[in-house]
Amino acid sequence: MTDPAPPTPARPSAAPALSCHALACEAGGRELFRDLTLEIAAGERIAVVGPSGSGKTTLLTTLAGLGPPVSGRVLVGGVALAGNPSLRARIALVFQSYGLLTLLTAAENVEVALRAAGRTARQAVSDAAGPLTRLGLARHAGHLIEELSGGQQQRVAVARALALEPSVLLADEPTAEQDAAHREIVLGELLAVAGRGGALVIATHDAEVAARCDRVVELRTATARAGGAGGVATAVTR
Ligand SMILES: Nc1ncnc2c1ncn2[C@@H]1O[C@H](COP(=O)(O)OP(=O)(O)OP(=O)(O)O)[C@@H](O)[C@H]1O
Ligand SMILES: [Mg+2]
Repeated sequence: MTDPAPPTPARPSAAPALSCHALACEAGGRELFRDLTLEIAAGERIAVVGPSGSGKTTLLTTLAGLGPPVSGRVLVGGVALAGNPSLRARIALVFQSYGLLTLLTAAENVEVALRAAGRTARQAVSDAAGPLTRLGLARHAGHLIEELSGGQQQRVAVARALALEPSVLLADEPTAEQDAAHREIVLGELLAVAGRGGALVIATHDAEVAARCDRVVELRTATARAGGAGGVATAVTR
């Protein structure tokens, strides 16, 4: 008698971790970009670049499901984000302006996010400590946000996103306030998320950060190409 055939290994999902199709977004009544289609695989690192005002933050918040696009769709693991708000739990966003609760401590900011994501109080305390320490904030964990420098606050925002262990991590200029040494630490931590199978999108003005990603998506406005500002952006991938 022959041995039974070995079980077929589970096929990884063919759907990208995050994608958008024919996305168009506006802000303040002005169309920022249209017809933006992107597919980001698990483990892939994408940089979004473009001049100030070109729509990078608007793109990231739309990908996070925080605001609806004018048209087009965002899909998480192949499932439409619109109408499936529970999918948002798979996504973490490092806000450009941090979005921290200033009257709480650094540790409490991370713990509150973990509690909201369903972890117990004890788990939240223990799961917050690792990212804060890795980002050089162990000594500041008990400090109120308003007692921290801008760069330290930005690292708390990064720690909060890392602690959530998202399958999609969107980071909006996460190194903008960092000195060279801390920029390297922050970038290393973000890239490691992709190394563990997460999809990573970083909006950045830093060419070195963009160069460390697998692909660069540039939001290029028609008038910016002609030397001005504003206009509807075209996404160019390289
Ligand atoms: N809530 C809002 N109301 C009105 N206009 C807005 C709003 N949010 C953004 N905008 C406008 O939309 C445009 C794109 O803004 P966005 O923040 O997405 O740009 P950005 O590429 O992230 O810029 P930066 O590099 O400066 O962070 C800007 O012209 C901005 O003034
Ligand atoms: Mg921005």
